[in-house]
Amino acid sequence: MKAPPEHARRNRDAWQQFAARYAESGRAAWASTDPYWGIWKLPERDLQLLPDDLTGKRCLEIGCGTAYVSAWMARRGGRVIGIDPTPNQLATASELRARHGLPLSLVEGIGERLPFSDDSFDFAISEYGAALWADPLRWVPEAARVLRPGGQLVFMTNASFAIACMPDAENEKTTAALQRPYLGLYSVEWPDGDEVEFYLTHGQWIELLTDNGFVVERLLELGAPVGAQTSIAWADADWAQSWPSEEVWFARYRA
Ligand SMILES: C[S@@+](CC[C@H](N)C(=O)[O-])C[C@H]1O[C@@H](n2cnc3c(N)ncnc32)[C@H](O)[C@@H]1O
Repeated sequence: MKAPPEHARRNRDAWQQFAARYAESGRAAWASTDPYWGIWKLPERDLQLLPDDLTGKRCLEIGCGTAYVSAWMARRGGRVIGIDPTPNQLATASELRARHGLPLSLVEGIGERLPFSDDSFDFAISEYGAALWADPLRWVPEAARVLRPGGQLVFMTNASFAIACMPDAENEKTTAALQRPYLGLYSVEWPDGDEVEFYLTHGQWIELLTDNGFVVERLLELGAPVGAQTSIAWADADWAQSWPSEEVWFARYRA
C-alpha cells in the first residue's frame, strides 16, 4: 500500500487533535431526525441535499467525520459507507453508531484513494470532508470512478468567494476587503496551523467535474439567514447576508 500524500498525512494529524471538539456537535446531529447543514445549520427541507428516498441505494460519505450525514442517509434507507482518514473521528462515529443502532459501515481511508471497486455507489456526498480537506484533482476522479453512470455527487464546502475575503488570522472574521487572489485558488495553508485546505474557483470546479464525466446540475451559494448565529470564529452572519459563506455542488456522473 502506497503512503498517503504529504498533505493527507498533515490533515489527518490535525484532525486527530480537532476531533474532540467535534464530538458534541456530532452527537447532536446524530440525534436529529431533521437534517441541517453547514455553518448556519440550514434545514434540509430548504436545501434538499439528500434524495428523500434512498431505499436500497448504495451511499458513500467521503470524509464522514462523526458520520451524522451517513446516519441521515441510513435512516432514509440507504446502504451506507462512511470513509474518513482520522481514527479519533471514526471512534466517535463508531460510538454513535452503536448508540443509535444504525447499520452503516465505517472505513479508514482518504478521499484521494477510495478502497472500493468501480461503479459501486449510487450516491456520494461530502459535507466539509473530502470537499475541503482532500485534493480535488485526486478525489473528484475517485468519486467518478466509484459512482455508477447516473449516480449523483453532492458536496458542501466554504464558498471560494469567502476564502478570498478571509484574513489570515484564525479568529478574524471574513471582511468586505479582498484578502487573497481568487484566480488560481487551490491549496490554502493558514499561518497558524499545519493543515492544508483545498478550494477551487467556480470555473475550475466546472472544468474538473466536466473533465471527469460529471454534468453540473445545481450550485447553491448560501449565506446566513437573518439572526443566524454560529460558534465558528471566522464566520460573520452580517457579512454572510451580503456574500456567500458556503456553496453546495450537485453533479451527475454520466461517464
Ligand atoms: C469537518 S469534518 C467533516 C465531517 C462532518 N460532515 C462534520 O462536519 O463533522 C472534516 C473531515 O474531513 C476528514 N478528512 C481529512 N482529510 C481527508 C481526506 N484526505 N479525505 C477525506 N476526508 C478527509 C477529517 O478527518 C474530518 O473528519
